[in-house]
Amino acid sequence: MHRRRGWAAALAGVTLVLATAGGAVLGTAATRALADAPEPAWDNGLAATPPMGWNSWYTNKCAVTESSVKSAADTLVSSGMAALGYKYVNIDDCWMQSTRDSSGNLQPDYGKFPDGIAGTADYIHGLGLKIGIYESAGTQTCQGLPGSYGHEQADANLFASWRIDLLKYDNCGNHGVPALTRYTAMRDALHNTGRAILYSICNWGQESVPTWGAGVGNMWRTTGDSTATYASMLSTFKGNMAQASFAGPHGWNDPDLLQVGNGKTATEDQAEFSLWAEMAAPLIASTDLASASSATMSALTNSRIVAVDQDSLGVQGTPVKLNSGLDALTKPLSNGDVSVVLFNETDSAATVTTSAAAVGKSGASSYRLTNLWTGATTTTTGTISASVPAHGVVMYRVSGGTAASTGWSSTLLGAQSSRCLDATGAERTNGTQVELYTCVDGAVNQYWHLTPGGEILVYGNMCLDAKGATTTNGTPIDLYTCVGSDNERWVYRDDGHIVGVQSGKCLDAIGQGTANGTKIDLYTCVDQPNEVWNKP
Ligand code: GLA
Repeated sequence: MHRRRGWAAALAGVTLVLATAGGAVLGTAATRALADAPEPAWDNGLAATPPMGWNSWYTNKCAVTESSVKSAADTLVSSGMAALGYKYVNIDDCWMQSTRDSSGNLQPDYGKFPDGIAGTADYIHGLGLKIGIYESAGTQTCQGLPGSYGHEQADANLFASWRIDLLKYDNCGNHGVPALTRYTAMRDALHNTGRAILYSICNWGQESVPTWGAGVGNMWRTTGDSTATYASMLSTFKGNMAQASFAGPHGWNDPDLLQVGNGKTATEDQAEFSLWAEMAAPLIASTDLASASSATMSALTNSRIVAVDQDSLGVQGTPVKLNSGLDALTKPLSNGDVSVVLFNETDSAATVTTSAAAVGKSGASSYRLTNLWTGATTTTTGTISASVPAHGVVMYRVSGGTAASTGWSSTLLGAQSSRCLDATGAERTNGTQVELYTCVDGAVNQYWHLTPGGEILVYGNMCLDAKGATTTNGTPIDLYTCVGSDNERWVYRDDGHIVGVQSGKCLDAIGQGTANGTKIDLYTCVDQPNEVWNKP
């Protein structure tokens, strides 16, 4: 398994950056990625699966206090939620005073937090949990308190000194400064502290954040603030679903906090919980846990559904049909099972139907369906169908046969060269030909993800592509926007060959080259180690 490391560790191995007069930059893949800043080339090693926890906002708003936060943390432990993975206890807006101190530091509101944030952090850490805090990438927070813009390093240092584990970074008071500038400034400040702090970008889906979020933070909001209504849940779901291709381990689409228990019906809350899990969304409940009903607690603690969310493959589920408000979504899981959500958006009960083939299953005469809400199991020869209540879901884990492709995320190590398949220079430009380069642990431009559809992605959103859709020997393999065509689809064979679906030809290190910079092309599949790519 490929292990990704934090910046500090990744940089420890980097000694040399040489910029030539022509602007070319020499050095390792990681240095080249860094030199291109703000080109996203960031990985703090956190959030291999979607973050889980609690957030104060929708429950406490500006009445948040040390005691409300501690009480939520206590309930996470006593309810069993913490053991299921709900680890981050996040203090949202309104924890601070309205001015910085004479040294320019943020000051906790000691009326609300008598032990300060550091004291609160100690308590939360003592429970075995992690603590998150809130700030804004602007001159003010959304409640008009001092923002971090222009104070990024001082504020990051302060958070690290308080032993903060997560920062939710909002978008108020931004004066129109581009989001990428503001969010990378805090990314770098957090990195400079040397503390691993999960970085949650909250710019409400603006400025195409899904396309660059994975290089900057661990999660990014895809929509505006939700409310505890069915209409809001539906539009948030649709907005987040459209960004599926950008999500993956260490970087997740965030459809806002869970509103389970805050006002919808129990049926609607179950739909929200299923859809968020199917979309590999962060599961951060913003619920008053102390007064939550048993229906709310049993939804939040459904371990079968949490397991779908937390599956190590890290694929966000996608729709197989969205007809007349009767939807079916599929999410491949690491053991070859598939999670299916049948969702009835409409106002009356209806039958929602799909099939094993449509959700990516084949090769068996019957499949086992485990209903993830009831635990009941049934079998089917192919049809997957259920009567679904209005605004509700039926959610199944489908086992048996084989999955179309379960996908994987890994580096690809050339068997002959012992060098990695590398997106040259950490470039993101369409047409950049890929090459061999010394493997650098943690380099995002050497980390590839095979999707269930057979695309091989880098940065979560660019595809390995046979240039010009040509199929002749010597066709360059480049990076290109994913467009769903067959020159961007590949089969990873058990023997390590990567075969183009369109050409039937293999990914090949040109001329059996083994040096850094050896380019990759398409070539007739032969039994030679320059066509063998191992997943370490
Ligand atoms: C914005 C964010 C919310 C919340 C509030 C706090 O609206 O999107 O999630 O943090 O600010 O003021």
